[in-house]
Amino acid sequence: MDMPLRALPDPLDDYAWPAAENEVPKEVFSREDIYRRELTHLFAGPVWHVAAHRAELPQRNDFKTTWLAETPILLIHGADGVVRGFHNACAHRGVMLETRRRGHAQEFECPYHRWLFDDQGRLRACPAERDFPPGFDKADHGLAPLRCEEFLGLIFVSLSDAAPPLREYLRGLEPSLELVLMGDGDCQLLGYHKTVIDANWKLYRDNDGYHTPLLHKAFTWLNWHGGKGSQVVTEHGHLAVTADLKPLSDTGALHDPSLLEFKAAIRAGGEGPQAKTGVLVVSPGTLISKALDLPIIRYALPKGVNRTEIHWTFIAHRKDDPEMLRHRIRQANMMGPSAMISLEDAAVFNRAQKATATQPPNTRFVKGYRPGMDLTQAGQNDEVGNLAWWDIYRRLMGFERGAA
Ligand code: FES
Ligand SMILES: [Fe+2]
Repeated sequence: MDMPLRALPDPLDDYAWPAAENEVPKEVFSREDIYRRELTHLFAGPVWHVAAHRAELPQRNDFKTTWLAETPILLIHGADGVVRGFHNACAHRGVMLETRRRGHAQEFECPYHRWLFDDQGRLRACPAERDFPPGFDKADHGLAPLRCEEFLGLIFVSLSDAAPPLREYLRGLEPSLELVLMGDGDCQLLGYHKTVIDANWKLYRDNDGYHTPLLHKAFTWLNWHGGKGSQVVTEHGHLAVTADLKPLSDTGALHDPSLLEFKAAIRAGGEGPQAKTGVLVVSPGTLISKALDLPIIRYALPKGVNRTEIHWTFIAHRKDDPEMLRHRIRQANMMGPSAMISLEDAAVFNRAQKATATQPPNTRFVKGYRPGMDLTQAGQNDEVGNLAWWDIYRRLMGFERGAA
């Protein structure tokens, strides 16, 4: 007689999270079992993930592939104008269907047994179908769809039916997204840089305005600390730091000071959103910024517990004139994996990863923290803005706080 299989208890069900709400255990950056739990509770959990911007697949029949942690996904801009998301796996025996990062295709053919799918993920043809079981219906064997919704051209996907509607998930972040996506999100792709850091993806996403002028020398040229800035933290753990920067006219280091120019702001009369810099963390793992005039989307894609691929995606407005395009491209020298700002981030994240097995066991967020505070209240240069997200993470993972 077959015995029913019983699921083994997961020791992580009893994991004790630190009692102090401003502390995070270092081991969440390095424990393999915690990473595996993230795959089910977070990456397949009730959250949305930024997977692309329409600028990356602007034409009908363009596609992009990417990953939701260990799950490869395929985004297709259909001939009907709708962008859809699918598991990037053939519905037959599970071979990854598309391996190119981006491209243009009317249909997708699996190389193994040549099943053919269309731009809406429908199975169109399969060789030797007459030998399939009676009743085999191609309509039942399309690509597995993902929930897929858009805001300002950003394409979000979710593996979970329990994720709230996207507009609810983003509530409070809309003005900041408008700022970094140049108002209407009508963008064109300038290009990519891809880098790998030897650090957990959550170290990358914990951004704060505290370190900005301290770690990044070049941010002092922009007068980050002196600017009038603010930080918005939303109920779903997104954060947006916005600053009115006043770049120095003479850094003593740059031969070409136009690198620091707010050209779009000058054109707009020096006022308004174009004169602001914004750095957003769209939870769980995407950073979107407009440093001076250059919007950048950074997808932090986990490749295991201690390795993260960062896809730097540089964009411009679709209606930019040639001079503005050149200017935005030049400003990619300001912020990027081999630019004035950002190498230092990778260096400190790598060092944090190396030191996860150290005492004290927890990291601490202290800048701007007051016991009992509303965790959504943070100033421009505070680090507490990350705590709302950490509390969401703790709850998604099913971790209870330990006794104080
Ligand atoms: S696995 Fe794709 S056609 Fe067989
Ligand atoms: Fe940084």
